[in-house]
Amino acid sequence: MCSMTKVITYGTFDLFHQGHINLLKRAKALGDWLIVGVTTDNFDLERGKINTCNNVMERIDAVRATGLADQIIIEEYRGQKIDDIQRYGVDIFAIGSDWEGYFDYLKEFCKVVYLPRTEGISSTQLRDERPTVEIGLIGTGSIARRFVEEASFVASNSIAAAYNPDAAECKAFCKKHGIAQAADLDELYGKCNAVYIASPHYTHYGYAKSALEAGKHVLCETPLVLNEAEAKELFEIAKSKGLVLMMAHKTAYCPAFGHLITLLQSGAIGEIVDIKAATTTLTDENDAKMDSSRFGGSMNENGCFPLLPIFRLLGTDYSKCYFVSKYKDGVDIYTKGILFTKSASATFEVGLGAKTEGSLVVSGTKGYAYVPAPWWKTSYFELRYEDQNQNKKYFYPFAGEGLRYEIKEFVSAILANGYFYSKLPVKEILAMSRIQEDFINGKKVRILK
Ligand code: CTP
Repeated sequence: MCSMTKVITYGTFDLFHQGHINLLKRAKALGDWLIVGVTTDNFDLERGKINTCNNVMERIDAVRATGLADQIIIEEYRGQKIDDIQRYGVDIFAIGSDWEGYFDYLKEFCKVVYLPRTEGISSTQLRDERPTVEIGLIGTGSIARRFVEEASFVASNSIAAAYNPDAAECKAFCKKHGIAQAADLDELYGKCNAVYIASPHYTHYGYAKSALEAGKHVLCETPLVLNEAEAKELFEIAKSKGLVLMMAHKTAYCPAFGHLITLLQSGAIGEIVDIKAATTTLTDENDAKMDSSRFGGSMNENGCFPLLPIFRLLGTDYSKCYFVSKYKDGVDIYTKGILFTKSASATFEVGLGAKTEGSLVVSGTKGYAYVPAPWWKTSYFELRYEDQNQNKKYFYPFAGEGLRYEIKEFVSAILANGYFYSKLPVKEILAMSRIQEDFINGKKVRILK
């Protein structure tokens, strides 16, 4: 029989610090063999920890470098602690006193020890001390309100000020959220190093251009602009000035959508032959989104949603896009589009004045992916096959309003100060603006009575 006492502890160990070292020393002193479980990036995301700065390999390296761990394992699912304790024959589970009581359920399997925590240091505190992106808001409508709430879940940013030409509306917004009000754009730019544009679509181009020219990073709501030449121009300015220009698109940055795409790109349903996507959001007739003089309408408002999986999975090299639209008071209350690439077809539906099943179906030669409505807020999807035993369901977090993921990407892109992989590539945004432009110009649009 082995008389060795095995101790296990777990943590994220982000921005590895003295508190972690002390904890590992204390845990090690409890026995002869120390096992350290380091959480995977996905598991942290699932637990709502979206701000981790180091990836799992960096965090493992930091733990290994202390020389205190006899064995390092990764923690990737809830409930794993019980499995590990049994699998490795663990005698003592040790964790910092910030978890006092929380892990008592493990007492059934081994001894549980809460160790004193080192005062005055934590990963959260170190993250908060990192440089901050000061964000200025342009537009103070409902999406800006959600942005402010969601930004509070993201590290390394603060909302510096807000601007809206309607000073009274701006004042009320600023008062409610405790944000400084900027009287004009110059004042706003003087207070921030990045802007979030949440104004009506037709003003995006002007604001984005002026912000980029003032040296500010830009996160702009969908649609970025409504024609390709303007989109190209903005990306060129951003590139020449070394600035981040991103289109805000909550679906593009959320965890489930990201994994759906990589699964399908790895051949999970064979070769893709067709995509069907619909995004309809019934809207009051008097809403600004229905105002023809302000480029309202279903395509302008919702077009970028179904076009996202289409361009991501089929590429942007499409032959033509045909539209069928139903209009009311000068705006399309419903539009259906169909386009082809060399190897696949796609149809999409958008509506502000008509409702339909808002699912996403990607058909392949070996099976299909089904994302139930509202697929653009994806938290769950299924891969389905001829043999139903092969079917698989996937679940993910979609925390809050989902904007925190794009805000995190924006802030990370700015702080990365160099290489950063954008989850929404420029060529896809250009293709989206080309489609919007063709639609606005009435190219291949059939209007229903
Ligand atoms: N820990 C500690 N003293 C600190 C910080 C952490 O003893 N000052 C312990 C925790 O109690 C846990 C282990 O270190 O047992 C790993 O904790 P982790 O959550 O990775 O570190 P935190 O600094 O607490 O991270 P965060 O601020 O993100 O919660």
